[in-house]
Amino acid sequence: MFRLLGSLLLVTAAGAFAGGAAPAPRAAATPLDRVIPAPTSVDAGGSPYRITDSTRIRVDGSREARRVGEYLADVLRPSTGYRLPVTTSGSGGIQLRLGKGSFGAEGYRLDSGSKGVTITAAGPSGLFHGVQTLRQLLPAAVEKDSVQPGPWLIAGGTIKDTPRYGWRGAMLDVSRHFFTVDQVKRYIDQLALYKMNKLHLHLSDDQGWRIAIDSWPRLTTYGGSTQVGGGPGGYYTKADYKEIVRYAGSRHLEVVPEIDMPGHTNAALASYAELNCDGVAPPLYTGTEVGFSSLCVDKEVTYDFVDDVVRELAAITPGRYLHIGGDEAHSTSHEDFVKFMDRVQPIVAKYGKTVVGWHQLTGATPVKGALAQYWGLDSTSAEEKAQVAAAARGGTGIVLSPADRIYLDMKYDANTPLGLSWAGYVEVQRAYDWDPGEYLAGVPASAVRGVEAPLWSETISKSADIEYMAFPRLAGVAELGWSPASTHDWGDYRVRLAAQGLRWDAMGIGYYRSPQVPWESVS
Ligand code: ACM
Repeated sequence: MFRLLGSLLLVTAAGAFAGGAAPAPRAAATPLDRVIPAPTSVDAGGSPYRITDSTRIRVDGSREARRVGEYLADVLRPSTGYRLPVTTSGSGGIQLRLGKGSFGAEGYRLDSGSKGVTITAAGPSGLFHGVQTLRQLLPAAVEKDSVQPGPWLIAGGTIKDTPRYGWRGAMLDVSRHFFTVDQVKRYIDQLALYKMNKLHLHLSDDQGWRIAIDSWPRLTTYGGSTQVGGGPGGYYTKADYKEIVRYAGSRHLEVVPEIDMPGHTNAALASYAELNCDGVAPPLYTGTEVGFSSLCVDKEVTYDFVDDVVRELAAITPGRYLHIGGDEAHSTSHEDFVKFMDRVQPIVAKYGKTVVGWHQLTGATPVKGALAQYWGLDSTSAEEKAQVAAAARGGTGIVLSPADRIYLDMKYDANTPLGLSWAGYVEVQRAYDWDPGEYLAGVPASAVRGVEAPLWSETISKSADIEYMAFPRLAGVAELGWSPASTHDWGDYRVRLAAQGLRWDAMGIGYYRSPQVPWESVS
């Protein structure tokens, strides 16, 4: 389907200068339909609103709306140089209102005209998402951290917007390389720009255990002491983890912690000899092979260990989910894998969390309400896909992370300096151009809970690496998760995406300048 891009709206801003002698510049307001992810509906028209030094951010009396208002002020103040007080009194300006409407928990409505911009939503997440849209309607320079000339125009019209899926996630592998709390926060801020709402943290793997568990302290003091390539590793104290959870919550993201089991457990096996079937702890591991480690399925201590880990992790996780991994358990027999998952899933339920597993969980018996995260490829066997589809028909929810589409650690092409290529090269169009609702044959559309973009970190060790691999593909994943299928159009998307490049430049995000995208340059 071809969506008409609104042409650049040229407006004369002279009238907005109170007594200004200098001729005002002609300024272009970003058309309402330039937003990523594409809104559900756009009705452009009417006069633009101009943010000036007398603009106020008006919120209703709720604490949540005020928090979103303060967040918006923090975004706008450095570049506009305006005071932008957040207040509950008066009318006009930028208004954030909680109100009734068919927005769902996360949707919003944005109305813009000469007197002001109003964002209305049923809850704070909707207001927050409306604020992300408002940011994108302002010039890219609004994202800079020093005062810019403006003018700060928002085109007139109405946007009504509700997400297609409730699961719009990104996974960060903090095990292969460790990332600090500040590095994770930086990524959270980037995810929030595109209305993503889940941060899945891959907290344990062969190369490092990254979350403090008081009852098994060597997991971190020893098991967390290295990483791929032999660097110093690191781990989150419980206070660190709570701070990540708090910060994610302030950006309306839910943290989904993963303890990968029964494979991908060398760091735990190295820390505690009793977890090994032969009672001998292996050395720490700093390579990148997979599939060589397994918890000992027949030992009772294994389930004491899992119970302690899940109990302690659940206690510091306000989110609903706990991911138990289950991928690449090549050193666990099928029979043992099934036995293990039959024992471990009820432990997750016992501590009040919903099970998420990689899609290999469907080879065991997913408990009622469990979610399976599909990470296969086009070339994954028909049998494996059928097994996932059968589980979906049986009630298991599916989160789609096809590796040859949205694994952010896959190289874009042969020249990409970072990343892997076992699932092939994934250019920007390939990452965007598929439909989660129709992706897996035999999976009912209602079983698809959404999409998630994993970023494995065998080759990724700093924020600049994360950003180069995530941008621009992350924006496409966000659109797949949020926007109605009827808006999906590569030709239209690539033009909207091109405009995002200027925003990333303003934010200091070093992105991959894909030749598939007609990037705009600073004029
Ligand atoms: C995975 O990529 N092993 C889930």
